[in-house]
Amino acid sequence: MQISTKFVQRRYDRIAPLYQAMDRMIDDSQRTKLLSAAHGDVLEVGVGTGANIPFYPLGATVIGIDLSSRMLSYAKRRAREARAQVRLLQMDVQPSPSLQTPSTPLSLHACSALYLTQSRAFLKFDAYSNPTASY
Ligand SMILES: C[S@@+](CC[C@H](N)C(=O)[O-])C[C@H]1O[C@@H](n2cnc3c(N)ncnc32)[C@H](O)[C@@H]1O
Repeated sequence: MQISTKFVQRRYDRIAPLYQAMDRMIDDSQRTKLLSAAHGDVLEVGVGTGANIPFYPLGATVIGIDLSSRMLSYAKRRAREARAQVRLLQMDVQPSPSLQTPSTPLSLHACSALYLTQSRAFLKFDAYSNPTASY
């Protein structure tokens, strides 16, 4: 079944308040473990409500992208309190030639961009992070 980007965007716009409440289901210690070593430029794909944002350390420069403006409205609040420098953009990760920055570490934590075209998304992420890989 082909799921459109608009469909995913609308769905996340609708469930954003619920998602914000559900963020607590992932234990802080897991986010700390995952993100405490992040440094330099980081691209977080599907940043959602920004639940990861407080866990990026000082010195990291994070660009968080997401399809859903409503999810991002929560992320913006968290970005104001962040230790890291955070910039948030509403965009689709899929047709993203402007994101071809191969040395940028990727944070893809619980991102359901993968609902859309899972294998294509993975190949793309891999290509960003590993420019010498061939497929
Ligand atoms: C599971 S939620 C957010 C998870 C968040 N990283 C966290 O740890 O709480 C997945 C997010 O991916 C976003 N998303 C889904 N498909 C996307 C796409 N093609 N481009 C950008 N964001 C996308 C959704 O809008 C949603 O906010």
